[in-house]
Amino acid sequence: MKKSSKKNFQTVRGMRDILPSDWPVVDFVFSKVQSLYRSYGFDRIETPIVEDVGLFQRAVGMETDIVTKEMYSWVDQGDERLALRPEGTAGVVRAYIEHGMLNLPQPVKLWYWGQMFRRERPQAGRYRQFWQFGCEVLGSDQPVADAELIIMMYRLFEELGLAIKVKVNSLGSEQCRASYRRALTNYFKSVVSKLNAEQKETLSHNPLRLLDSRDPNVIALKEGAPQIIDYLNEDCREHFLKVVDYLDDLDIPYQLDYTLVRGLDYYNQTVFEFVLVDEQGNESLALGGGGRYDKLVEELGGRPTPAVGYAMGVERIINIMRERKIDIPMPPVPDVFLAQLGDEARKKSLKLFEELRRIGVNVSQSFGKEGIKQQMEVANKRGVKFTLILGQKEIMDGTILIRDMENGIQEVIDFNKIVGEVQKRLSKVNGNGQ
Ligand code: HAM
Repeated sequence: MKKSSKKNFQTVRGMRDILPSDWPVVDFVFSKVQSLYRSYGFDRIETPIVEDVGLFQRAVGMETDIVTKEMYSWVDQGDERLALRPEGTAGVVRAYIEHGMLNLPQPVKLWYWGQMFRRERPQAGRYRQFWQFGCEVLGSDQPVADAELIIMMYRLFEELGLAIKVKVNSLGSEQCRASYRRALTNYFKSVVSKLNAEQKETLSHNPLRLLDSRDPNVIALKEGAPQIIDYLNEDCREHFLKVVDYLDDLDIPYQLDYTLVRGLDYYNQTVFEFVLVDEQGNESLALGGGGRYDKLVEELGGRPTPAVGYAMGVERIINIMRERKIDIPMPPVPDVFLAQLGDEARKKSLKLFEELRRIGVNVSQSFGKEGIKQQMEVANKRGVKFTLILGQKEIMDGTILIRDMENGIQEVIDFNKIVGEVQKRLSKVNGNGQ
């Protein structure tokens, strides 16, 4: 192939590389999330990225945007109809049923952190491959389970230094929703001339989704729409009141939002969302959301099992932490750098490097560089405390130089004693006996 005809490949639209400079903040959020789930008694689960397409059609809903427009699905060489997971709940519920977790003491509390795929229009905070972390509590119908999830996420955002707004609503039971749906349809039918073609379509298929619309026209119409809260039966109302009561008891600020319906079909009863607020208090992106899905386990072939969960968008959290310059701990810098000159020195250095690493010294090197000067530049850049220098003269004498990078003082040490010497010096500066 001629050089000029070579194609420069780039990331596929909506997909991103996660570069070395991105990882400290990803790792930081991961460690916070992991310890949060541990402290609330959750066990980790990871389900495959690829599942039977029918799982998502059944769980998320045949008429949702996620399934109709955004799912990556295909028929493979063995005629299996597969999909890249657009969300985590369906896979976790499948695993709960498949592995007989309903025989474990209930509730089963699971958390996950993984890549999801949705073919959405790429824009800030919206990617086609993105990470979610989230959790599912299977086997509890108690309002306290809903409240606990909201509380733990609120605490995480507090720890990360991000101001968020918690929005809560109840979608009631199937029966409550059916009568609300009728009332809402009647209302929107009375103003149907103000809806565009797509909105009319939504009205006929899933009128509740009109409440989600960002179109100013529909937002204005929503003002006069009936509210779900007036259609909840006694049990549903009581469940919801208990949830908000727990939040009140723990001083978790929240906002009741009767237009919050969420974009997945499996929800009933409590739904919630965590929305970012800017310095002026305006709402922006949803960082995450969730709710109850008491019928899903049964819908996917299991025993009736009430459940509740949520998921968060990792990129959205990370982007905002960056934008707001929230301090995160950087990975520890190495203590020691190993510089060498010549073949023999390189061989000996390789061995010494392994020896130091084995006893727990945070040591670094740049064996690919030839000159001592370039290697010293790397050592300086990495901010090490000591550099060990092994040149031809030292090889002949059976010695090695140790240079204190702070004061520049260099000393000759017997090569056989260098490991002990490094340990001694580090224990002095670090005060940890290393
Ligand atoms: P979801 O609201 O579809 O819920 O997604 C949760 C979060 O994932 C969103 O709030 C957002 O932060 C992030 N997210 C969604 N799509 C994208 C995207 N294209 N790019 C970047 N981030 C995105 C669920 O997925 C449910 N499974 C949550 C749940 C768990 N409900 C019960 N259990």
